[in-house]
Amino acid sequence: GAQVQLITAGKVTTCTGLPYKPFQYEENGKVIGFDVDLMDLVAKKLNATQEIVDTPFEGIQSGVDLSSGKCDLAAAGMTITDARKQNFDFSDPYFEATQAIVAKKGTPGQFEQLKGKKLGYQNGTTGQEYAQKNAPGVELVNFEDLGLELNAVETGVVDAAINDNGVVFDWVKDHPDFEVVNQFDTGEKYGIGVKKGNAALLKVINETIAEAKSSGEYDKIYQKWFGK
Ligand code: ARG
Repeated sequence: GAQVQLITAGKVTTCTGLPYKPFQYEENGKVIGFDVDLMDLVAKKLNATQEIVDTPFEGIQSGVDLSSGKCDLAAAGMTITDARKQNFDFSDPYFEATQAIVAKKGTPGQFEQLKGKKLGYQNGTTGQEYAQKNAPGVELVNFEDLGLELNAVETGVVDAAINDNGVVFDWVKDHPDFEVVNQFDTGEKYGIGVKKGNAALLKVINETIAEAKSSGEYDKIYQKWFGK
């Protein structure tokens, strides 16, 4: 098959927007998570090592980071959307997601009930898009990343926050005063991004996902990050 060209020989550079626990986050100076494990399999298949580049999600989802050659691929718990497909190519889906609202326990979760209150969202995300379409009268507050967004919920700077179910359910496990107060079945699917036209790399990524699913490796990684 066609030769995969990496930006730096021997290295698969992955653009991601930290923190997005449990998909990618830093612990003891190391970036770990579900997406990291999955992309390690891609690197292995290419006889390379993975190097992670932390960069604002906005530049990832707009395609700027991929088209400018900042990274070989983008793995960022990123939803496949038609708008994004204009700017870069997606792998086959590897994970499903919905939107969810997290708030202090007992907070009403309907947008109607959040009117006049502050709802945090993460810049450039499908959560932002969903809130802007469906939450008229709710005061929307922008955050650069998930860490800042959830911190604002914790400190009461906002009344609630919207983001993907996987990350907010993970967060409430360690924050017992908070809960997921609503979920919207947006039917999202995550994909890995590559520069438009990089069919050789896309093929390796798709083969890796398919092989991980059939070998049981995918389930092992899933259990590692979502099993507890
Ligand atoms: N799934 C959502 C989207 O694609 C949020 C992704 C945010 N990812 C991140 N690493 N910060 O818009």
